[in-house]
Amino acid sequence: MINEKMEAAINKQINWELYSSYLYFSMSAYFDSVNLKGCASWMRVQAMEELSHVKKFYDFMGSRGARVMMSEIKAPQTEWESPLAVFEETLKHEQQVTSLINGLVDIAIELKDHATNSFLQWYVDEQVEEEESAGDVVQSLRLNENNPSGLFMIDKELGQRIFTPPAGVTL
Ligand SMILES: [Fe+2]
Ligand SMILES: [Fe+2]
Repeated sequence: MINEKMEAAINKQINWELYSSYLYFSMSAYFDSVNLKGCASWMRVQAMEELSHVKKFYDFMGSRGARVMMSEIKAPQTEWESPLAVFEETLKHEQQVTSLINGLVDIAIELKDHATNSFLQWYVDEQVEEEESAGDVVQSLRLNENNPSGLFMIDKELGQRIFTPPAGVTL
């Protein structure tokens, strides 16, 4: 069994992961609307990754005899000023998620819940990658501000990303 406080905190995080997916689908739709197909595709892969994060929490809750409780997902933004603004928000969002994951680890430690703490380490590592990949795109876009052919190349490159579910996770 899992402590009630831990259970509630994970349910809150499941909502955040769903919101993350919703936000990235919204960003994908924005990119499609400005004909940046590669960026749009990158964002859909990102959205699918977030769903895999939901599923991983979902499965963990089941294995600990906890109940998943869904709640309202807030509406994401739908318009942005530029591709750079989208990726800057992505980076900011991932930094926020990192601090939420750290908060969950703090609760697990406080409750001496070693199983949940161990499980959460996967997310701790994942957030390092999430911040790095968003940060890399922000850097490339900053270097190519006011350079349409640079943006074209970045869009092409981002379109190469494919979705691979994390080990042991099925959607
Ligand atoms: Fe996530
Ligand atoms: Fe993420």
